[in-house]
Amino acid sequence: MSIKSSGSLTRRRFLKGTTAVAGMAAVSGIAPYRFAIGDMAKVKIGILLPYSGTYAMLGNSITDALKLRIDQEGGKLGGREVEYVQVDSQMSVPNAPQNTKKLADKDKVDFLVGPVHSGIAAVMAKLVGGQKSPIMIVPNAGSNAVTGALCAENIFRTSFSNWQPAYPGGKVMADDGHKTAVTIAWKYAAGRQMMDAGTESFEAAGGKIIKDIEVPFPDVEFQAHLSEIAALKPDAVFAFFSGGGAVKFVKDYHGAGLKDSIPLYGPGFLTEGVSTAQGEAAEGIRTTLHYSADLSHEGNVAFRTAYEKATGNAANVFAVQGFDTGELLVQAMAAVEGDTGATETLIKAMAGAEFPNSPRGNWKMSKAHNPIQNIYLREVHGGKQKLLGVAAEALEDPATGCSM
Ligand code: BEZ
Repeated sequence: MSIKSSGSLTRRRFLKGTTAVAGMAAVSGIAPYRFAIGDMAKVKIGILLPYSGTYAMLGNSITDALKLRIDQEGGKLGGREVEYVQVDSQMSVPNAPQNTKKLADKDKVDFLVGPVHSGIAAVMAKLVGGQKSPIMIVPNAGSNAVTGALCAENIFRTSFSNWQPAYPGGKVMADDGHKTAVTIAWKYAAGRQMMDAGTESFEAAGGKIIKDIEVPFPDVEFQAHLSEIAALKPDAVFAFFSGGGAVKFVKDYHGAGLKDSIPLYGPGFLTEGVSTAQGEAAEGIRTTLHYSADLSHEGNVAFRTAYEKATGNAANVFAVQGFDTGELLVQAMAAVEGDTGATETLIKAMAGAEFPNSPRGNWKMSKAHNPIQNIYLREVHGGKQKLLGVAAEALEDPATGCSM
């Protein structure tokens, strides 16, 4: 992949344009300087997220909240107008190289925001990692490798590693007195890595995983698997599904009569943003995640109000990740006064960004560019997440294989 040259606003082009516009302003005496710059060169944000299929809700929530945060700055970053170039990832790993190259090489975006899916994240990181431009910001996909073996100066994540929300969950299940469990997840990197992390802490606390069930992604045919779980009679089940698939799984689990006899646990994606649609079937499900809707600090209350006003929807963790992606861009572009060519300063600002008012609570970037953040224990009550406590405070991903 070529490093972008003509489309990016290098420091030289930025300053050249500024001088020309300032000169025109001096002659006419009327041209507003900042408006003219904004007109001349917009900051390009490429977005590769799912807008169709089982993860569509995730992609839409991230996009809406990213735009909300930038709109709160008058729609500008570092004084420059913003242009969004959106591509539906359709959760297709085979299409990921061409989608990434379209945004990076053809559209020549300054920032590449995406994806949701761990398999796509690894493809994107291999293509753009180590390049001067674009800077990649992952607003969801948890692929451990992206901030592990594939970590790079120009890759940042505002969400989580797959290990992070899952690892405390296994211990919660053991602390609730369960000795045996079955794991069930979609068969790809996210599912495997989350189930491995939950297993690690569950077994360290004395539990035993008696069966790993893998479901092809994005299948939602669960009946045979639920019959197998009923026959195995574990104390508990640890599951990863998200979006539309999570609605179907939790409802089918309830429908199969398993909910009361074999409690469901998992990383919070199982009920996040979908607990209303899951209804009665979700009641009482305990999950661990880096967000809980009922966090009472001002940053969360203000965010939820603004998001609901802008979209008509209740905010969820995916929106939080989109909002914090916007916040990262706001801070970094202010630090370089809009000069996306000042790569070194830009990356330094991103690595040092602070999020004291994040809806999820205070967090910062690790050396590998992944959030160091609290993981909360939540339980669904009346269709809403109820915060039970902090399952792991300021949890940092091990970043295995990253030498930054
Ligand atoms: C992932 O593929 O990394 C992922 C997708 C949905 C929710 C959480 C993680």
